[in-house]
Amino acid sequence: MAEVVIVESADAAGEIAADAIEHLVRSNPRAVLGLATGSTPLTTWRALAARGLDLSQVRGFALDEYVGLPPGHPESYRSVITREVVEPLGLTPSLVRVPADSGPIETAGADYETAIEAAGGVDLQILGIGRTGHIGFNEPGSSFASLTRVKTLTEQTRRDNARFFASPEDVPQHCITQGLGTILRARHLVLLAFGEGKAEAIAGAVEGPVTASLPGSAIQLHPHVTVVVDEAAASRLALAQYYRDVYAHKPEWQGL
Ligand code: F6R
Repeated sequence: MAEVVIVESADAAGEIAADAIEHLVRSNPRAVLGLATGSTPLTTWRALAARGLDLSQVRGFALDEYVGLPPGHPESYRSVITREVVEPLGLTPSLVRVPADSGPIETAGADYETAIEAAGGVDLQILGIGRTGHIGFNEPGSSFASLTRVKTLTEQTRRDNARFFASPEDVPQHCITQGLGTILRARHLVLLAFGEGKAEAIAGAVEGPVTASLPGSAIQLHPHVTVVVDEAAASRLALAQYYRDVYAHKPEWQGL
């Protein structure tokens, strides 16, 4: 079962995720991080930046990228990762990869898998979740065995992400995303979610049936998952009180 930590705010969640990253990097300065974009991880990056750690040797792999945006577009995930993660955290740009950042799109998925494998795999994967239940951009119906590949975004996700673009039509139809199989290979998954709009997806991911119709439910197949949610995102969890009890009485030696 995933560990579920219910906190009062996105800031508090960011501190917990930053704790996990700090602990990892102190034991391995060359750790491999899986990087989500979007609004959810922002408090994590902020909390981590405030700690002033030396992250210059950390290697990073973004979860996903839009397909079809002109190079350098401010909302490409390469630009977002540079602006929100690489620069504020002091990562080394050449050590941070984004899918399809080199070579033809046809082979970009396989190339990305090879690069992740060559780095020794992802140690800690930060995840958000979409209202469709997607993790990465694995929309409903994605295979649990899927690896990095090009996908079509749902209309719901395009509408949700339109806030980052001048107009909804500017949101690309396609993306390239780590697969659910790729994500499940990471050694530790940290899934964050905030707000009522994520409550249903979180309940499905943590407690619902394991189904491709809710890709986030793939986390139930992973042996080491930490789900950090605020009260609103936790509001549909049937076992919320149990998760609170478990966390309140957690032996310190267990760590995250
Ligand atoms: C982003 C990603 C997506 C987002 C999800 C939630 O790299 O993979 O799964 O995590 O769409 O987005 P936000 O955080 O903007 O609500």
